[in-house]
Amino acid sequence: MIRQVLVLNGPNLGRLGIREPEIYGSVSFEDLAELCRSTGRKLGLSVEVRQTDDEREMISWVHEAADARLPVVLNPAAFTHYSYALRDALAMRTAPLVEVHISNPAAREEFRHTSVVAAVADGTVAGFGLVSYQLALQAIAELAAEDDTGAPEPGLPEPGLPEPGLPEPGLPEPADPVDGTTPAQARPLSP
Ligand code: DQA
Repeated sequence: MIRQVLVLNGPNLGRLGIREPEIYGSVSFEDLAELCRSTGRKLGLSVEVRQTDDEREMISWVHEAADARLPVVLNPAAFTHYSYALRDALAMRTAPLVEVHISNPAAREEFRHTSVVAAVADGTVAGFGLVSYQLALQAIAELAAEDDTGAPEPGLPEPGLPEPGLPEPGLPEPADPVDGTTPAQARPLSP
């Protein structure tokens, strides 16, 4: 099944190639869009790339993605650092969300160290130039495949199974087959 994915980009990213090339590189936005589409094709994803300088338009795209259950790769650009409105819109998501940055905001000015959207994303890829987008699309492909199979997220116990070493909730602890005591009965009292 080909899965549709939105790659959404915030303010000033339309000026890639001429915008601070020492930080963001010399590749144009259209080249980035083509890279995302071709990476998507290899991953079985149909990728649509959009960019806006307008917070209202970005939020309307996030609503659209939530309504259509579309996974999103999002470079919120400067909205990352202050847009609670975008963060609240993203919190309504119904499909995987990966935050992406070309540069590494943690290694730049202090105001870039805060992301108000990171906590509502599945994860963040930052600092790898345009490769950040390719890694984010790979993560989306994995997350979407997990959603399809209902497989648990890595590191989480399968739903309904007790954690190893714990009795199932609501069930009595199994009795010792020899003397009939339960582990709780056999446990020595603390002095
Ligand atoms: C950016 C990092 C942000 O701090 C900045 O405001 C951007 C681009 C990045 O991709 O590195 O516009 O999101």
